[in-house]
Amino acid sequence: MSENIIGRANVEDTPELKAYYKDLEKFEAGALWTVANKIEPWQPQSASVPVLWRYSDLREHVLRSVDLVSPEKAGRRVIYLNNPGRRDVSAAVGWLYSGLQVMHPGEVASAHAQSASALRFIMEGAGAYTIVDGHKMTLGARDFVLTPNGTWHEHGVEANGSVCIWQGSTFRSSTRWRPISSPFTPRSSRRSPAILWTT
Ligand SMILES: [Fe+2]
Repeated sequence: MSENIIGRANVEDTPELKAYYKDLEKFEAGALWTVANKIEPWQPQSASVPVLWRYSDLREHVLRSVDLVSPEKAGRRVIYLNNPGRRDVSAAVGWLYSGLQVMHPGEVASAHAQSASALRFIMEGAGAYTIVDGHKMTLGARDFVLTPNGTWHEHGVEANGSVCIWQGSTFRSSTRWRPISSPFTPRSSRRSPAILWTT
């Protein structure tokens, strides 16, 4: 992407330059002028494109995943929103990751912690719960939950509950820390529990 403006990269490809770029690639290096205009735009430019995800479109496909993969194998059985402009980072928009997680009654997802906070909307179902730093809270349809960054948390659905689907979001750059065995969540970190609004 060349720009015919003083101070901007405006180098046309030549066979000699292309060969030079290939040589640099061998050493996992590159010429800045080939990417400078893209990575340093005059003003912020979003690679994300407008997408409308309808719950009614995705719901049956989210439920299909229950028959296709176990939560143990998947870690988290989630169908994520994949923006065409951000597929390289599997984000819904910008650096925001978002997905629909489905759990059957009696299922438990392993405890873990992330470097970014997370938010959750309980779309449907009964008997869902989350345990954050040892504090267990029950969740109902249309509840909204914030999980503070760095807190150990795990989710599950009581055996006498029903299929639950919730939308979870966090920042894509978040680091996921090593999961531990359920159902115990360590109490070593005494941060504030998740904040829960119940409708
Ligand atoms: Fe999480």
